[in-house]
Amino acid sequence: MADVKKLYIKTYGCQMNVYDSERMAEAMGGAGYVTTENAAEADMILLNTCHIREKAAEKVYSELGRFRALKDEKPDLKIGVAGCVAQAEGQEIMRRQPLVDLVVGPQSYHRLPQMEARVQTGEKALATDFPLDDKFDTLRQRPKAKRGPTAFLTVQEGCDKFCAFCVVPYTRGAEVSRPAARVLEEARDLVERGVREITLLGQNVNAYHGAGEGGDWSLARLIWALNDIDGLERIRFTTSHPNDMDDDLIAAHGECAKLMPYLHLPVQSGSDKILKRMNRSHTAESYLRLIERIRAARPDILMSGDFIVGFPEETEEDFQATMDLIEAVNYGYAFSFKYSTRPGTPAAERPQVAEDVKSERLHRLQALITRQQRAAQDAMVGRTVGVLFEKPGRMAGQMVGKSDHLHAVHVTSGDVAAGDLRQVEIVESASNSLAGRLLQG
Ligand code: SAH
Ligand code: SF4
Ligand code: F3S
Repeated sequence: MADVKKLYIKTYGCQMNVYDSERMAEAMGGAGYVTTENAAEADMILLNTCHIREKAAEKVYSELGRFRALKDEKPDLKIGVAGCVAQAEGQEIMRRQPLVDLVVGPQSYHRLPQMEARVQTGEKALATDFPLDDKFDTLRQRPKAKRGPTAFLTVQEGCDKFCAFCVVPYTRGAEVSRPAARVLEEARDLVERGVREITLLGQNVNAYHGAGEGGDWSLARLIWALNDIDGLERIRFTTSHPNDMDDDLIAAHGECAKLMPYLHLPVQSGSDKILKRMNRSHTAESYLRLIERIRAARPDILMSGDFIVGFPEETEEDFQATMDLIEAVNYGYAFSFKYSTRPGTPAAERPQVAEDVKSERLHRLQALITRQQRAAQDAMVGRTVGVLFEKPGRMAGQMVGKSDHLHAVHVTSGDVAAGDLRQVEIVESASNSLAGRLLQG
């Protein structure tokens, strides 16, 4: 096995990057690489990067700097940058950090084996175009390795919405949906390899419109087809845009047995003035009405969201409108961020809010969200929920998994294995997880 090479991949950013890192590992598997968790023993290091906020992008350069010592020790080590920073900055990365041998954007991962061959000859390699060939198709020759109980599956990529703060339409390109048959084929393959829960991914996953039998399929139609796959127990999807929640998708939340009662539906702000400037094309009121309809279809659904505080020209009154919206929705989970200026986006040109004001608002918003999150979790005590077990916990004899509502649940019992979906009675709520007791059957 002398010529087996080792690949270390570090993943930043969203779930789509997690999915992409797996695809890159598979593509490089074809070029003789196996993955390693230890950067020090790698022959190639790939950073799969995120450009969404300034901090995320800057992290890449500090991480790259840390590899200098490794490269000094091992001159043949190759270093590559993939993902959204690669797409946004391209050649500039190699100028700023000459250690980098290879830069590859999210639409070009199928080219990695050829690029690897080039860098082995001492050249540099760059691919950041948006090719017409489907990267998913050329990445399909996957080894039939066993998988864990949960998996991501990208069904849609890119975004045409151009929210005024966001880099995604520039880094991931225009919205593209994969054909339904390809998605179903990949889902069946995952199930054969042990997967019981699939999370469908897309930057705007509910705008899915992949070609299928009888014309374009909606996300609801795709979910119903996945629901028929034996052995697949759970379906989730993320991230959705409020404007693309159609009636069929709302109804599916009430009717489709495998679709889980959890919905991530970012709103960003509760102020109509700010929403307009963000180019979100929904209002606070239309978002609240939408949630009412979703809850009418599935009363126990757990809502989660994303919030940006300190968007340009956000006043205290605008911020209060966001707090009011959060009170009205009552979230089970949320991600919140200080607005980060992204060069090239329209909001970067607007008058900015002071950093200390942003920090103080974020603090207040997170305190409110934490209270709601904790209340939603505490309300599970006494209920019986489905739990898909994933791995042993930190304590001896403990197994942990996720509930239907995506809460982390642990039980202490010798009678459950990773991949088991069991009914569990929740007995206690701790700060970030629930404790449960396995029910028979
Ligand atoms: N497609 C999804 C999410 C995209 S990025 C959507 O439409 O909601 C994930 C989250 O990062 C966004 O929901 C937003 O809350 C946050 N985000 C995006 N750009 C940002 C910026 N410039 N500053 C701070 N947060 C940002
Ligand atoms: Fe970014 Fe989401 Fe807006 Fe698209 S819809 S521009 S991904 S925040
Ligand atoms: Fe980041 Fe790109 Fe995802 S910018 S959030 S890795 S789409």
